[in-house]
Amino acid sequence: GTGRSGTVTSRRSGRCSRTTTTPPPPPPPPPPPPPPPAAKGSNFLDTAGVVIIAYDRADYLDRTLQTLFSRMGSYSPAVYVSQDKNVVEVTHVIEKWASSHGVVHLRHPPPDLSDVPPGQGRTYHAIARHYGWALGQLFDEKHHSKVIILEDDMEIAPDFFSYMDAAGAMLYEDSTLLCVSAWNDNGQRGKVYDAEVLYRSDFFPGLGWLLTSDLWAELRAKWPKGYWDDWLRLPENRRGRAIIRPEVPRTYTFGEHGSSQGQFYSEFLKPIQLNDDAHAVDWNMKDLPSMLKKASYDEAITAAVLAAAPTTVDEVSRMPAVKGLKALGEPGPAIKDYRVEYEVRAALGCVCLLAQIS
Ligand code: UD1
Ligand code: MN
Repeated sequence: GTGRSGTVTSRRSGRCSRTTTTPPPPPPPPPPPPPPPAAKGSNFLDTAGVVIIAYDRADYLDRTLQTLFSRMGSYSPAVYVSQDKNVVEVTHVIEKWASSHGVVHLRHPPPDLSDVPPGQGRTYHAIARHYGWALGQLFDEKHHSKVIILEDDMEIAPDFFSYMDAAGAMLYEDSTLLCVSAWNDNGQRGKVYDAEVLYRSDFFPGLGWLLTSDLWAELRAKWPKGYWDDWLRLPENRRGRAIIRPEVPRTYTFGEHGSSQGQFYSEFLKPIQLNDDAHAVDWNMKDLPSMLKKASYDEAITAAVLAAAPTTVDEVSRMPAVKGLKALGEPGPAIKDYRVEYEVRAALGCVCLLAQIS
């Protein structure tokens, strides 16, 4: 979702084509396992590093750090801020958090962008190089075994760390998983309500994500010079692996003023539903393997698709728009699942448009 000028980004244009059906919820989970001994279910995040990618927005960065530390609870991962360029107000914010909370200050050396033609693409090249450099610092220099990457315009949900902890551990149990993201592109208020559901996605959402050193070892040598998130979505990099993402987002971006110059912000990003205190989940109490491992997930999805009522594009065009039916956590009216069978992709685009599944 790089928001390049003049084109609709792949994040946005990808939205419709990757929504093949209204995602059916997995079946009810089996009885919960016995409670773990400690509130913090695992030590998974003890060796994790969290890095915030920062540039020129001092007030945004300060807000991001505030929410990050307010959500930490019993977790204590090492926190880094990686600074691009040297904006003095940003330096001051980092120094403040370094002395109060032990935040580690990393400084990205000015990249050589002489091979990049002038224009808006330059920024996306600067961002990709900064990302690659920061990942190299955390994995190769600081030797973290997993890294959570945030940007300097993000708030996180109360159960963000619990989610990363439990979902991150799944990456070591299922080699068909790529990484964990806290974001749902279709997670606008009124479109999502079940805070306890997670999905396997073929589309990398980014925007607050966790990767392991194993994935970094694979990507390091070929990390791209620009448009890093679109690059990670390419078949030769994703290699058929799925990304864990929640139904209800665990990150929120308040970054209206940024590299994409507000493009899409009010339409798609501002209305995102960040999970709240009332719906915080203790993810280590959940049976994630049965919800997420490929075999059981595929079985549940297949059953849900087969159970959905068959319909046609014509019928869909006469249905009322499915919009804003439920609020977070509200049972609300039942949403019926429908199945449209199609043979060419163009027909599917038409269904998304008609049903207002944006
Ligand atoms: C969008 C994406 C973002 C992605 C980026 C690059 C959304 C909402 N955001 O950025 O996830 O990483 O495209 O594909 O879809 N930055 C630098 N150096 C710069 C400029 C920016 O390090 O020269 C940093 C910022 O501090 C921030 C990140 O890059 O952490 C993204 O920049 P931002 O200005 O927020 O751009 P978006 O349009 O949100
Ligand atoms: Mn942003």
